[in-house]
Amino acid sequence: MGLLEGKVVIVTGAGRGIGRGEALEVVRQGGAVLVGEFDEVAGQEVVDEIVKSGGQAALVTGDVAEVEVAEKMVATAVAEFGGLDALVNNAGTLRDRTVIKMAPEEWDAVIRVHLRGHYTTTHAAANYWKEAGRPGHIVCTASTSGLLGNFGQSNYGAAKAGIAAFANITAWELRKYNVTVNAIAPAARTRMTEGAYGKIEETGSEFDFWSPDNIAPLVSYLCSDASAHISGKVFGVEGDVVEIYQPWTSVAEIGNGGTRWDPEVLATKIDGLLAEGGVAPEITNGMTRLRYSMTDRS
Ligand SMILES: NC(=O)c1ccc[n+]([C@@H]2O[C@H](COP(=O)([O-])OP(=O)(O)OC[C@H]3O[C@@H](n4cnc5c(N)ncnc54)[C@H](O)[C@@H]3O)[C@@H](O)[C@H]2O)c1
Repeated sequence: MGLLEGKVVIVTGAGRGIGRGEALEVVRQGGAVLVGEFDEVAGQEVVDEIVKSGGQAALVTGDVAEVEVAEKMVATAVAEFGGLDALVNNAGTLRDRTVIKMAPEEWDAVIRVHLRGHYTTTHAAANYWKEAGRPGHIVCTASTSGLLGNFGQSNYGAAKAGIAAFANITAWELRKYNVTVNAIAPAARTRMTEGAYGKIEETGSEFDFWSPDNIAPLVSYLCSDASAHISGKVFGVEGDVVEIYQPWTSVAEIGNGGTRWDPEVLATKIDGLLAEGGVAPEITNGMTRLRYSMTDRS
């Protein structure tokens, strides 16, 4: 018996890369999968591959940020497979550019697919679970770009940090409906990373550490009832490594005896606050805190 025996899972952006691996693993774990995909050819290929091997899969094409497309994914999963148990918000895209050069369209496109594309599906699925009185699981896709910051990705990083916040807040809101919401920050060799960083070679060893299929086991677990006690968390995942992130947290404070600060006085205190918190005043490259990186981020 797999972890998702008899379960129904939507995976957005499942036509290639990490989402494809997630869809195939859902089926390997005994579940049926609804592939949500912008690219009809890629989406159909994944559905055909699953059906050919005896699994259950269906396709809904369209932009995940469209409310109608998200609603159609939920309605199709219910109509084809008799219900919905989990949603994996994975679809995404990049438009890397420093903020000085970034066009408004590049900002909007990235914010739209990631943030609105998480809202539309979560809204539709959560309403289904509330009305049906069934438990559910949601996996959101954040990124180290949002958690740690990455040069040239202010649009993408802002969206991905927003997704971590979205997972935290919706986990809280949906707890009373027995719906868990967690997020992952994956790293894998895909069209997206090869577009951003160039060709990423296979390691040559038997285990292909950067294979996109390595993300799926954690995601299947987070889609299953075995993880029903875990919600509002952000996991890092790459190769055979699963990490847990600590959320933003306050590390030191100063006060002014219960009265409003004078800015000039405050100016003499802030360096001390940073020092007490162990926080450097100058910009730091968060990517140097990565435990694993497929590229040089120094
Ligand atoms: N690959 C990595 O190392 C990495 C790192 C951090 C986060 N991520 C995130 O993982 C997710 C998957 O990325 P990937 O690397 O597999 O990329 P990918 O480009 O290989 O696959 C993304 C898929 O999403 C689909 N898609 C894009 N926009 C869509 C839309 N509006 N509606 C429906 N489908 C849409 C694409 O057609 C594509 O099939 C993304 O959210 C990405 O930001 C990836």
